[in-house]
Amino acid sequence: MNLLQLGGAQSTCPWNIAQICEQSRTSARAGRSSITSTSQEIMENDVFKYYSEGEWKVSSSGKSVQVINPTTRKTQYKVQACTQEEVNQVMESSRMAQKSWAKTPLWKRAEMLHKAGAILKDHKKPIAECLVKEIAKPATDALTEVVRSGDFVSYCAEEGVRILGKGEFLVSDSFPGNDRTKYCLTSKVPLGVVLAIPPFNYPVNLAVSKIAPALIAGNSLVLKPPTQGAVAALHMVHCFHMAGFPKGLISCVTGKGSEIGDFLTMHPGINCISFTGGDTGISISKKAGMIPLQMELGGKDACIVLDDADLDLAASCIVKGGFSYSGQRCTAVKVVLVVESVADALVKKVNEKVEKLSVGAPEDDCDITPVVTEFSSNFIEALVMDAKQKGATLCQEYRREGNLIWPLLLDNVRSDMRIAWEEPFGPVLPVIRINSVEEGIRHCNHSNFGLQGCVFTKDINRAIQISDAMEIGTVQINSAPARGPDHFPFQGLKDSGIGSQGSIFVWECCVFYAGLIVEKRMMIMVFDAGFSLCFHVGLSVEKKMVIMLPIQSSPFWIFRKPSLRWHVLMEADISGTIFATDFLNEGRGGSVTLNYFWVWQEMGKLKDGKFSRDVIEAMSENPDFVTSQS
Ligand code: G3H
Repeated sequence: MNLLQLGGAQSTCPWNIAQICEQSRTSARAGRSSITSTSQEIMENDVFKYYSEGEWKVSSSGKSVQVINPTTRKTQYKVQACTQEEVNQVMESSRMAQKSWAKTPLWKRAEMLHKAGAILKDHKKPIAECLVKEIAKPATDALTEVVRSGDFVSYCAEEGVRILGKGEFLVSDSFPGNDRTKYCLTSKVPLGVVLAIPPFNYPVNLAVSKIAPALIAGNSLVLKPPTQGAVAALHMVHCFHMAGFPKGLISCVTGKGSEIGDFLTMHPGINCISFTGGDTGISISKKAGMIPLQMELGGKDACIVLDDADLDLAASCIVKGGFSYSGQRCTAVKVVLVVESVADALVKKVNEKVEKLSVGAPEDDCDITPVVTEFSSNFIEALVMDAKQKGATLCQEYRREGNLIWPLLLDNVRSDMRIAWEEPFGPVLPVIRINSVEEGIRHCNHSNFGLQGCVFTKDINRAIQISDAMEIGTVQINSAPARGPDHFPFQGLKDSGIGSQGSIFVWECCVFYAGLIVEKRMMIMVFDAGFSLCFHVGLSVEKKMVIMLPIQSSPFWIFRKPSLRWHVLMEADISGTIFATDFLNEGRGGSVTLNYFWVWQEMGKLKDGKFSRDVIEAMSENPDFVTSQS
C-alpha cells in the first residue's frame, strides 16, 4: 500500500514527503533570513561560530560539523569543529572569569540573569525556528521551550538570591561528648568552572537549567551543546552575550564528540559536570574523577493503571505522556502496566486517541514529527520488530517514512521483549497486562532506570502506598510524568542519574558548603559598623561584621559593645594579651579598644587603666554574647 495515502488517511496533518521537503526548504530560507537579521555576528561563510572569551570565533581547524534536519534529512546548518587547543583556551578564560564573578555581588549576578531571561524571551521566534529545523520539534512546543527557558532563568535568579544568601550556624555541644567550645558557620561558595552538556531534545531549556543556577551561584560555565540543537543553543548563548556578562564567563564550544568529548569531560579545569542524555553519562561519570556530577540519563517511566482508575483520564495522560514530541522525552510514559480487568477498555480508549494524532512536519505543528536521526529511527524499528516477532499485538500498522514513524501502541507485551525494558525514545508505546498491582510494581522496580512513573486510581491511600513502593525519583498520581514546573525537583535513581535539577534543589552541583569553625581561642565581636577588618583572618561578613582575632594564650571573650567611641584610648595598654597591635594600627580598631575599656571599667576590673592577664582570664570564665542590636 502507498505510504503517502496511508499518511493522509490517518492524520489530520497529512504527510507528503515531497511537500514537506518543499515546506522545509521554504521555511529554511525564511529561518535563515530571520537568523541573519537577529544575529549576523554569530555566523561566517554559512558556518556558525563558537563562543569564547566573549567573542564569536571561527575554529582554527577549518572544519565544520553538519546539523542534519530530521525532516528533510539534508544539512540544515553547520557549526565549528573546535580543537582541543581551543578547549584549553576556553578553560583558561573560564577559570579567570570565574574568580572575579565569584566576587560580584549576588544581587548583581541576579540582575544580569534577569536581563538574559528577558532577552531570551524576546528572541523566542528565531530560536524556535532553529528547534523546528534541527530537532523537528513541533512549532508551538519549540516556542514554549524558549519562553519556559527565559522564565526559568529569571526564576532561578530570584531563588538564587534567597537561597545562596543563607548559611548555617552550628554549635558544638549538640553532638554527644562535646561542650560548647566551637561555633561553625557554613556558607555556599561556587565550585569554579561548570561544564554543561544538554541533550538534543531540549537544547535550550536543558542548557539554561544548568547555566542559570551555575552562574547565579558564582561559577563560570562552559557549554557543549548537542550537535542536533547546537544552533538553537548558540542563539541562546548570544542572548547571554547581549545581556553583557563578563568575557569568558560563558563559553560555548561545538564539535565532534570523538575530538573534544572526552577531552572536555576529563579536563582538569572542570570543577563540575552537569549532563543530560543517554548512557554516555555513565561513561562520563567513570572518567570524570573527583568532581561533583549532576546527571539525568533517561527513564523507562511506568504508568500503573488500577481497576478503579478514571480510564478516560488515564488514556488522555498516556497519550500525552507517551507521544508528546514523538516520545522523545526522558519523562515520556514508556510502558503501561494495566490491571487485566480494565486492560481492554483502556487499550480501546488509548487507541481512539492515537488515531487522532496528527502526523507530519514540525512546521505544521503536527503531534508526531520525524525522530531526530536515522540511527534513532532504526533503533525504534528494531524494538518494534523484536516485539512483533515475539508475539506483541500491534494496534496500528507499523509505518515509517524516512525518520517519521507513525504512532504505535503495542499490546500484550511481555517481559521477554526488548521494548518491555529499553527506552525507544520514539512514538511507540508498549502495554503490559498485569494480574496484580504487585506485579506492576515489581516490573517497575526491576528496570535499570528510575526516573519517574505514574499511578492511576481513585483511591489515594493505594496511590500513596504504590508510590512508596516504586523505586523512582518522582511518582505522579493521576497525571503523566513530566519534569516541570521547572522549580520542582527532578532527579532519577539507578541508571537514570544522580543529583537534582529544578531551581530549589539544584544547588548541590553549583556550590560547596564552606565551613568556618571558630574555637574559643579566638575573640568574636559582632557589631553593625559594616566596615571590614577581614585582613586579620580573612573573614568578612556583610553588614554584621564578625571579626576573629587569635589571642595568644588567652581564651575567648564575647562582650557587649555599648557604642562606637573613637578617641581617648587609642593608646591604651591592654597588656598585650587581647588585641594585636594591628587592630590599633587600623585606627578603627580604636573604637573596639574603647568599648573593651568601657566594659572593663564599668565592671570595676580595670587596674590603673590597664588590663592584667589575671583579670582577663577571670572574666573569660563568664563570657557574655551580646550583639550591638540588643
Ligand atoms: O527529556 C528529558 C526532559 O527532562 C523531560 O522534560 O518532562 O519537560 O518534557 P519534560
